[in-house]
Amino acid sequence: MGVRKTSAVAAVAVAALGLAACSTGDATSGDAQTSAASGAYTPKEGGAGGKVGVFTWWAAGSEKKGLDALEKLFAKDYPNDEFVNLAVAGGAGTNAKAKLASDLQNNQPPSSFQGHAGAELTDYISKGQIEPVNDVIEALGGSDVFPQDLLDRLTVKGNIYSVPSNIHRANVVWANPTVLKKAGVNGTPADMSAWIADIKKVKASGVKTPLSVGGTWTQVQLLETVLLSDLGAEGYSGLFDGSTAWDSDEVKQAANDFKTLLSYANTASDGDDWPAATDMVIDGSAAYNVMGDWAVAEFADKGAEDGTGFTYFPVPGTDGVFDFLADSFTLPKGTDNPDGAKDWLMLVGSAEGQKAFNLAKGSIPARTDIGPEDFPKYQQSAMSAFQDNTIVSSIAHGAAVNQAWLTDISSAVSKFYSQRDVDGLVSDLATAAQNNQG
Ligand code: GAL
Repeated sequence: MGVRKTSAVAAVAVAALGLAACSTGDATSGDAQTSAASGAYTPKEGGAGGKVGVFTWWAAGSEKKGLDALEKLFAKDYPNDEFVNLAVAGGAGTNAKAKLASDLQNNQPPSSFQGHAGAELTDYISKGQIEPVNDVIEALGGSDVFPQDLLDRLTVKGNIYSVPSNIHRANVVWANPTVLKKAGVNGTPADMSAWIADIKKVKASGVKTPLSVGGTWTQVQLLETVLLSDLGAEGYSGLFDGSTAWDSDEVKQAANDFKTLLSYANTASDGDDWPAATDMVIDGSAAYNVMGDWAVAEFADKGAEDGTGFTYFPVPGTDGVFDFLADSFTLPKGTDNPDGAKDWLMLVGSAEGQKAFNLAKGSIPARTDIGPEDFPKYQQSAMSAFQDNTIVSSIAHGAAVNQAWLTDISSAVSKFYSQRDVDGLVSDLATAAQNNQG
């Protein structure tokens, strides 16, 4: 599904999101309405007052810089409120999600927490842990400023359940141009086998670990992009609605390619976080890392320059496809300071907030009314890809599968990482789908 360019960055592209709309359940009903009946929220001048505890996993490094940018604006726009940073370290929320689940279970919710648009959000909605925020979305401008199809992914039965802060792309290879040049690698590989041939050249040039990986979730993300490459956008999206079999020949091919890629990678422990893997590209101990575009903020943070210090291209075989995820912020049921929480949501959803946050974070704004001109080259290219590309949903970051399914996929990948048994991986993935597909 190709979608052509318009002046609004996200508006048209997100129309393609329906391709891989939430398939794990009934939650994203696709009937989002910025209900006029609920009325628009009007924040109190200077803020409602009191503490506003914000739960994320943006605890360190370049990710924290994004959150810091929001915190700074929050202090300026809502001086009555006191921001409390409840971040729990660990990329992709590996540690944070467990802490959050227990806080929610014990009726000790934060004022607001980070959740992914799509299947992950539906978990919180179906457990009755978050409240609709139609009034906040309405006050922010509703579907005039947020793409309707993105709102649909935040919606159940006409209620919108979070405010999106950003859109990330997951299918990006980050590479070290000096290492590639030394290995005689020119041009961008067109598919998996061409990429594997380049990886071999890099290895032959003396780089022991041409590809860097981190802990399990980064491997899940790598696998998802290999699936996307080997199955194509339609085949990949079919994995979530049952139209593509998880034990098909294409999935077996992807599992084999995944095995080959890992044979050229460093050894990682389950808890190894993503910045270490990205930094291996910066210092040249690896030529390549597959990572979401939060990586570009890490390159900037470490002083690596676009073009000389690092370069990037879509995972080979996925050119023209945007593997999508979006962070969004919720209003937990029973939270102490709901009005303070809404002040935070207003800031997150504002044009000012989205610009400051996304400039620091490497992502692109969820709002459609923020132009590309103030963003660096990479983000400009991501904005244009988001307009033109076919959009599919990330597995590792809550867009395509709910948390239970992701847990099963992660266990399968972790087992594979130690055993390297391709048939075992395919069968575990097929079982995971059987156990979790709605
Ligand atoms: C994702 C999240 C991104 C980024 C990444 C690495 O799940 O959506 O914003 O934080 O994890 O931690």
